[in-house]
Amino acid sequence: MDAQAWEKVDALIDANQNKTIKDYFAEDPDRAKKFSLEAAGWFLDYSKNRIDAATMKALVKLAEKANLKAEIEKMFTGRKINATEGRAVLHTALRNMDRNAKVMVDGRNVIPGVRKVLDAMGDFSDSVRRGTWRGFTGRRIKYVVNIGIGGSDLGPVMANIALTPYAKRNMKFFFVSNVDSTHLAETLRQVKAAETLFIVASKTFTTQETMSNAEAAKDWLVRELGDRKAVAKHFVAVSTAKDEVAAFGIDVKNMFGFWDWVGGRYSLPSAIGLSLMIAIGRGNYRRFLRGYYRMDRHFRTARLERNMPVVMALLGILYSNGYGAETYCILPYDQYLSRFPAYCQQMDMESNGKGVTKDGERVTYSTGPIEWGEPGTNGQHSFYQLIHQGTHLIPCDFIGCSKTHNPIGDLHDKLMANLFAQTEALAFGKTADECRKEGVPEKLVPFKTFDGNRPTNTLLCDELTPETLGSLIALYEHKVFTQGVIWNIYSFDQWGVQLGKVLAKGVLKDLVAKKPSGRHDSSTNQLIARYRAAVGR
Ligand code: F6P
Repeated sequence: MDAQAWEKVDALIDANQNKTIKDYFAEDPDRAKKFSLEAAGWFLDYSKNRIDAATMKALVKLAEKANLKAEIEKMFTGRKINATEGRAVLHTALRNMDRNAKVMVDGRNVIPGVRKVLDAMGDFSDSVRRGTWRGFTGRRIKYVVNIGIGGSDLGPVMANIALTPYAKRNMKFFFVSNVDSTHLAETLRQVKAAETLFIVASKTFTTQETMSNAEAAKDWLVRELGDRKAVAKHFVAVSTAKDEVAAFGIDVKNMFGFWDWVGGRYSLPSAIGLSLMIAIGRGNYRRFLRGYYRMDRHFRTARLERNMPVVMALLGILYSNGYGAETYCILPYDQYLSRFPAYCQQMDMESNGKGVTKDGERVTYSTGPIEWGEPGTNGQHSFYQLIHQGTHLIPCDFIGCSKTHNPIGDLHDKLMANLFAQTEALAFGKTADECRKEGVPEKLVPFKTFDGNRPTNTLLCDELTPETLGSLIALYEHKVFTQGVIWNIYSFDQWGVQLGKVLAKGVLKDLVAKKPSGRHDSSTNQLIARYRAAVGR
């Protein structure tokens, strides 16, 4: 992060330390309008933040100093910005709707390949939805089970829930990720083998959890249908690894490919979205991609100070680096977005949870925040207490949709009233005097006072549709990208997940060996021994 540019931001934080969000609003009746913007179907009101025009300007400078515009171009044009893995980062090519688009990687335009896979996915999902693709015994497919983990699971699950109103209701979709056998077992109890399609979704096709679940599902299917040949009609694959897919026993004709320039956590708009396409149909899926594309274009072309992902990224940096906020909360006031926080968690924390700069030096500032969240209003009756009156500063994004897909009485008005009221309460709080005026007994005043000055963003769309969902995801993707650029870290690798994976292999050996090696630390050895004793080894 550029030290000089940051100093300027820091100086403004110091100069404004006695000013609250309430003061800013009192000073300027036009504040809400000034600190709001619109893009790709979303309205962002960021006025309830600890900012003024000068702070925003200084933050934008930080982005300029990091050459953000040039970095954005590098990503969109296929430069190998994932340097530690030597890969381009081109999830934006997956949803590029420009008819004449050309995006070159290693001298080849990747767009025709993208469109070919999309067409193949479209044909396949049509055939499953229409019942022309049948199971081994001739039954229609009613159940789709996506087996994958991380980016090969969280996106499909999140979007499947989010776009339920657009989904084929007479089909059921399941997502098995955990290597805990309960996940698979409980899913298999709810499906019938003859009517089930398994999608094995794994970029590498080597991930322990996915491959173990896929093998177990294959054994179950063969047992249930009594013939190995049944696999061909009940298993398809989504992967970059043709040989591994073939070795697993899936005909590569039934494999939907993608490329090493699509990161796992950015892969939902690739073939990883196959289960979603089957659920909502290819037309709606196209609308979903169009939403992404609209936000992509906005991100690529809008001025930094009017650029929604950039503004959100800068605000995040202000609180992480300027106010020591360690966590960051995403609060969708829409039940259909219930898994959106979990989805963002991987996208953000696997991307920007990095401790060294691009030069391999330890960073001297904090990077990616701890991200969490739950849908409103549920969270209000759970953890909001801490956000309102606790000792931690937790910036929050409130996300809502003006229209509901399920109007029942005044429930939606109540939902939205709660959303708006929470941002009001967090920003403006309640003073001791206000409490007293309400007749609060003196001894209770400290407990009933709200400091306020707690920052929030509010994101509103008219309605949650495939298009607005796509643009919402792209918004957060680009926010994470922008922060990574400013922090000068590599956002597209994930070396931090390797060590545990490797050690688990060694531990597994010791769990099942005749005699454990005893070569771990005393704690791990003790846990292994205890487990072995409990299961009778
Ligand atoms: O363990 C982390 C990770 O590599 C994620 O980045 C990825 O989304 C997930 O595992 C699953 O990987 P794959 O799609 O190759 O099975």
